[in-house]
Amino acid sequence: MNHIAVRRQLNQMALHRVCRISELNPGEVRRIDDPPVAVFNVNGAFFAISDVCTHAEASLSEGQVDGETVECPLHGACFDLRTGEALTPPAIEPVQTFAVVLQDDEVYVDVGGSS
Ligand code: FES
Repeated sequence: MNHIAVRRQLNQMALHRVCRISELNPGEVRRIDDPPVAVFNVNGAFFAISDVCTHAEASLSEGQVDGETVECPLHGACFDLRTGEALTPPAIEPVQTFAVVLQDDEVYVDVGGSS
């Protein structure tokens, strides 16, 4: 895909700016509010999931990250950051995942391209 095609594809996405890449270091998380999305940097790999636990109202950006999983701070359900899958109860439903786009030293989340 050439440069113009990439630009065209990016323009069709619903990108929300999160922060500069340098402001989201490995082991850190950032949250955007509308919609609520948590963006994680795990050893240089970026993942974005809904910030709202599917079990109840808890913010997953406040959870403990272990590898490519995050543990909900309220009741301890674990979610796969790559797929959104609920790995342990009490959560059963997956959280939404979102594509992360790194462009011009900025981190964006495609809130229109969720899965
Ligand atoms: Fe997340 Fe209960 S609110 S596991």
